[in-house]
Amino acid sequence: MTLAVQRVENAGASVRASHVTRSFGAGAARIVAVDDLSFTVSPGAVVALRGASGSGKSTLLHLLAGIERPDSGELVVAGVDLGRATRRHLTQHRRRVGLVFQRFHLLPAMSVLDNVLAPVIPVRVTFDKAARARELLAAVGLAGRESAAPSQLSGGQQQRVAVARALIGSPALILADEPTGSLDSTTGTEIMDLLLRVAAERSTTMIIATHDEGVADACDYVISMRDGQIMAGEAARSA
Ligand SMILES: Nc1ncnc2c1ncn2[C@@H]1O[C@H](COP(=O)(O)OP(=O)(O)OP(=O)(O)O)[C@@H](O)[C@H]1O
Ligand SMILES: [Mg+2]
Repeated sequence: MTLAVQRVENAGASVRASHVTRSFGAGAARIVAVDDLSFTVSPGAVVALRGASGSGKSTLLHLLAGIERPDSGELVVAGVDLGRATRRHLTQHRRRVGLVFQRFHLLPAMSVLDNVLAPVIPVRVTFDKAARARELLAAVGLAGRESAAPSQLSGGQQQRVAVARALIGSPALILADEPTGSLDSTTGTEIMDLLLRVAAERSTTMIIATHDEGVADACDYVISMRDGQIMAGEAARSA
């Protein structure tokens, strides 16, 4: 079983965050979710993002994905300055990011195959979309399940579909928000192994928010957050 389908066109994204801040609300209700963060991630690195609930992990992933913009500071992913990018460039950036969520977020009315195809439906591409979706499903161990509905699959299988969906746009960066959080530990380990294999075979940069120590141990680097900031002594470990 190999995932090397898209190896040549893929190169991992570099990430450079410099004094990135993102807050919500105003006045006394203002919450600084990401507070003056600075770190770098080199292409192909696999980084665990740790921290208590509310420490800013998901907000940071949303900033990296181009779903949110920083209030201040500079966030450069694969050479794109996300705070200053035009809407069009931000849309292009989002297409080069693969997202995996805790609760799979598959579209229940669509088949497994159509879920994998969903991110590239509005995009003009040079490859055969359906053929690539089938290849990816086979690569994550789901050959033959293309016509199934998500509800007919186990949680681990649904997360495999989500991983295949995250890969269809040839991402330079995979962002996973507690990808094992809804799974039992054995299935969680399988999904983590799959993500690590995908990232290694494609040299993709990957950042995984997790509460799971086992997941963090499997990553190259750990960034530990508290109250929107990187905990002292951790910054040097992100490379
Ligand atoms: N859209 C939003 N509007 C208002 N506040 C928000 C918004 N998004 C996040 N926050 C706040 O920002 C802080 C950081 O939230 P975030 O979701 O990034 O934490 P987290 O580390 O992902 O937590 P968890 O481990 O529970 O997923 C929290 O105080 C949260 O309430
Ligand atoms: Mg979160």
